[in-house]
Amino acid sequence: MFLRFILLVLVQGLLGFALPPKSARSLKDHHLVTTLPGLYENIPKDEIPLMFSGQLELYAENKTYYYFWKFSDIHKLPENKNRTTFWLNGGPGCSSMDGALMEAGPFRINSDKKVTYNSGSWHKASDLVFVDQPGGTGFSLTDEYDTELYQITNDFLRFLDLYFEEFPEDRGNELFIAGESYAGQYIPYIAQGILKRNKNLKDNEMPLKLKGLLIGNGWISPNEQGLSYVPYSVQAGIISPDHPDWLKILHQHEQCQDIVNKIDPNDKSLNRLEMSSNICDRILTLILEATIDKSNPDEACYNLYDYTLKDSFPSCGANWPPDLSYVTPFLGSNAVMNALNLDVKTTWQECSGGVGRSLKAKNSIPSVHLLGDILKEVPVILFNGNRDIICNYMGTESFIKKMEWNGQKGFSNDEVIDWIHNNVTAGYIRAERNLTFINVFDSSHMVPFDKPEVSRALLDIMTGNYDQEDKAYVTYPLGERYDRLEEENRVKENKPIVSSSSISMPASTSGLTMQASESSEPNSTTVETDSSGTGTRITRLIQLLVIVVLIWGVYILYTSYKSGPSSIIKSGPSNGRKKNVQWADQLSQFEDDEQFTPTNQGFFAKTFSKFTNSDGGNYSQLNKYSEDIELGDQDPAQSTISDDFIIASDDEDERMDTPATSKNSPN
Ligand SMILES: *[C@@H]1O[C@H](CO)[C@@H](O)[C@H](O)[C@H]1NC(C)=O
Ligand SMILES: *[C@@H]1O[C@H](CO)[C@@H](O)[C@H](O)[C@H]1NC(C)=O
Repeated sequence: MFLRFILLVLVQGLLGFALPPKSARSLKDHHLVTTLPGLYENIPKDEIPLMFSGQLELYAENKTYYYFWKFSDIHKLPENKNRTTFWLNGGPGCSSMDGALMEAGPFRINSDKKVTYNSGSWHKASDLVFVDQPGGTGFSLTDEYDTELYQITNDFLRFLDLYFEEFPEDRGNELFIAGESYAGQYIPYIAQGILKRNKNLKDNEMPLKLKGLLIGNGWISPNEQGLSYVPYSVQAGIISPDHPDWLKILHQHEQCQDIVNKIDPNDKSLNRLEMSSNICDRILTLILEATIDKSNPDEACYNLYDYTLKDSFPSCGANWPPDLSYVTPFLGSNAVMNALNLDVKTTWQECSGGVGRSLKAKNSIPSVHLLGDILKEVPVILFNGNRDIICNYMGTESFIKKMEWNGQKGFSNDEVIDWIHNNVTAGYIRAERNLTFINVFDSSHMVPFDKPEVSRALLDIMTGNYDQEDKAYVTYPLGERYDRLEEENRVKENKPIVSSSSISMPASTSGLTMQASESSEPNSTTVETDSSGTGTRITRLIQLLVIVVLIWGVYILYTSYKSGPSSIIKSGPSNGRKKNVQWADQLSQFEDDEQFTPTNQGFFAKTFSKFTNSDGGNYSQLNKYSEDIELGDQDPAQSTISDDFIIASDDEDERMDTPATSKNSPN
C-alpha cells in the first residue's frame, strides 16, 4: 500500500505533472471544447486545435464573468513554444469573437454556419486567447459596466489571475497582447497594469513576461487622429477640394485643429481637450455625408473600414464584414453555446451598446501618453490596414511624430523600409527604439480579415523571426525560415547561429538564436552520446527502469481511477458532455437586461461605437446641445446619427445584412 503511494508520487513526478489544484483541474476539464458544427468535417484532422472555452467568475458580488476562448496548435512548430497571445477587439463593447472567427483565429464561419479552416491563423505562431471584455461584451457578463480605463486594467489583471490558475503551465510563457481599434486604449492600459504589478510582487508571485504589444488600426490619440480624415480622404480620392461641401469640411477641420493645438504634449495629466471630441469626429461625418450617392441605395456611402468598398446608407460599413451574418447565428445557436461551455448563456451580439455608452473614460488620459513608459520595457508594433478610413494610417503616423519615447521625439527620419512577405511587398515599416510602425497594404480596419497569413507574420516581426536585408524586412510562410536556419546550423555543425536578424532585431524578445538552441533538446534526432561506454549502458538501464515504472504506474492509476469519477482530459469527439446549468436564475435575469435586447445599431455604433458615445468633455454649446438630445433618447447612437444625417430618416432596415458590394474576400 505504502509502496503504491510512493510509486504514484514517483510516476506523477516523472510525468512532469505539477498537478494543479483540483478545482482548477476540473474547471479545465469543464472548459475543454470537443465539438463544433463542421469541426470534424471541414478541418483537417491534424489542424484541429486544442481548445478551451468558458466563462470565469471575476466578481461574484456584481456577477461579472469574463468569457475566453483559447486555441493551441497540437503539433507546435519549434519556433512556437511557450508563447501566449491575448487578443482583444475594440468598440468599446465589441466582442473578440470578431477576432476569433473573422480575423486571427483558426476558424471562419461559412454560410452553413459551420467552421472552416483559416490557414493564416495566428495560433500556429503562438497560443491564442480571445477574451470578451469588459463585462457585458459578447459572452462576458456583468451587473455593473466599467466606466473608466483603470477599471479595464484591474478587471483584466483579475482575469489573468484566474486564467493562470486554470492554466498554470502558461504562467511562465512569453506574453503578447494584440488587438484592434478601441483596443488601442485597452492594450496600453493593461500593459501598464502588468508592468506595475511586476514591480510590486507579493511573496511567491511570479512576474508576467510581457514581451510585446501589437495594435492594429488603433484608436490611441483621439483628436489628433481626427485631423487625419481630410488628408486621408483627399489622398484616397474620396473627396476633392472642388466639392461643394469642401469649405464646410475645412471649417470643421480647423475647429478640430484649434483643439489639438491647445494640447500641451508635455502635460501628461488629464486634459479634457484630448478626450474624443464631437468636433473632431464630425469631420468624418461631414465627409461621408458629402459623398453619399442617393441614386444608388445599395452603394450609397463609403465603407468606413475599407474605402474601396461601398455600403448602403446608413450602415456605411456597420454590418461589414459579410461573415458577420454567419457568425451571429453561429454563436446564437444553442448547440454552439453548449459546445463553448457557457455556464450563463446570452444572446451574442457583435457589439454591446450598454458597454459602449458606459465606457466614456472621461477621467482616463488617452493611451498615447502611456506608450512612452511602456516602450522603455516592451516593444510595440502599431500596424494599420491602409484602406481603413476611421482609424487610418495617416492618423497613426501623425501622432507618432509628436510622441516622445526612449529619449527622442518621433522617428529620426522619414525613411521607410519595405516589408516583403513570401516574396511580395506586404507593406512598409518604420522601426526605432522599440516602436515599429507598419502600414499593411491592401487591407482594411481588420487586417487579419483581409490578409490572414500576412498578418500572422506580424508576430514574426515581433519575435525576431525575420531577415533584415538592405532596406527590407523579409518574412516567410510558416516555419520556412526556421527550417532553413536549422539546416544551416546542421551544416555548420554545432556552431552557434549568428543570424543577421539576431544582431539587428529592434524588437529582440525571444531571439531566434535562443529558440534554435532550445529546440535541439526536444526535437533533435541525434541523441546526445556519452563518450564512455559504461555511461551509455547505465543510461539505457535507467531508461528501461523508468519505462517499467511508468507502465506499472499507469496500471495503478488506471485501477484506482476506474472506480472514481474520471477526469483525464478528453480529446476528440466527446460522447455526451454534461452541461452545467447552475446559474439558470442569472440567465433569466440577464435576459431582462437592456443589453440583451437588440439595439438599433446605427452608423458608427459598431466596431467603433466610440464616436456616437463620446460626449467630448466640455467644449462648446454645440456639444452640450447634442448631449441633451442624447439624454432624451433611448439610443444615443441613433440620435447622434439622426442629428448628423437628417437626409434619410426613411425607415431603412439598418440591420439588413451583407453590403451588396463585398468584392472583398479573405485570402
Ligand atoms: C526596449 O525594450 C527592451 C526590452 O524588450 C529594453 O531592455 C530596452 O531597454 C528597450 N530599448 C530602449 C531603447 O529603451
Ligand atoms: C522568391 O524569390 C527568390 C529569390 O528571388 C526565388 O528564389 C524564389 O523561388 C521565390 N519564391 C517564390 C515562392 O516565388
